Amino acid sequence: MEIMVFFSLLLLVCSVSTNPTEADNEIVDQQISNQQPCPQDIHAVLREMAVSLAEQKIEIRTLKQDNQEHVTKLERQMTELERQKAEIEHLKQQSKVKQVAFSASLLEGGNGYTGPFNVQITLVFRRVITNIGNAYNPQTGIFIAPVRGAYHFEWHLHGHAYKSHPIAGVLFRNGEHIFLAFELQASGTVSTSCGTSLLLEPGDQVSLRLWAHARIFDGVNHDTNFSGHLLFTV
Ligand SMILES: *[C@@H]1O[C@H](CO)[C@@H](O)[C@H](O)[C@H]1NC(C)=O
Repeated sequence: MEIMVFFSLLLLVCSVSTNPTEADNEIVDQQISNQQPCPQDIHAVLREMAVSLAEQKIEIRTLKQDNQEHVTKLERQMTELERQKAEIEHLKQQSKVKQVAFSASLLEGGNGYTGPFNVQITLVFRRVITNIGNAYNPQTGIFIAPVRGAYHFEWHLHGHAYKSHPIAGVLFRNGEHIFLAFELQASGTVSTSCGTSLLLEPGDQVSLRLWAHARIFDGVNHDTNFSGHLLFTV
C-alpha cells in the first residue's frame, strides 16, 4: 500500500512536469528546471523496485516451498503416529486375548449325583472358580477358543462304585471325541482323571460329556471338576 502511494505520487509529479498547462507556464518552467533529474530518478527507482519485487517473489516462492515441505513432513509424521497408535491398540487386544484360563466344579452348591442317562449329555460345570477371558460359558458348559493356540485341559470325575454305572467323561472338540476318562469299580469311591493339550482354531468348542450310563458325584470337596487354559498362541 505504501509503495503504491509513493509510486502514484511520483507519477503525478512526473505528469505535471511533462504536461504543463498554459496558465501555469512560468511556474511549471521553474518546476521543470528544478525537477530535471525526475525521469531518471523514477527509472532508477522503478528498476530498483522491480528488482526488489522479483527478489521478494523468489523469496515468497522459497518460503512457500519450505512451508509445503514442512506440511508434507508433518502429515507423514501424523500418519506414522496414527499407524503406531493402531498397532499399540492391536497389541493390547492381542495380549488381552492371550489371557485365557478357567476352572470350575460341577455343582453350584450342595452335593449330588449326575446321571445315569441313556445318551451322552454335556456336563455344565456351574461353580466357576476362575474364568479369565470368559472363554468358558457356565450356562452351557462349552469352552470357545478365542485365538489359535495350544490349550491344555484336564478333568477329574468322582463317584461311588456301582456295577453298571462307570465314572466316565469324554472330552469333545467340536463334534470330535478326543479322550475318555473312564473307571468302573465294584466297590468303594472312584475317581478318574484325564488331561490333554489341543491345537485349537478360534471358535473351536471344547466340552465334557458324561458317558452314557455313567453316574458321577460332586459335593463339598468339589471332586468333579474341569479346567483349561491357553498355553501359547500359534
Ligand atoms: C478335582 O477333583 C479331584 C478328584 O476327582 C480332586 O482330587 C481335586 O482336588 C479337584 N480339584 C480341585 C481344584 O478342586
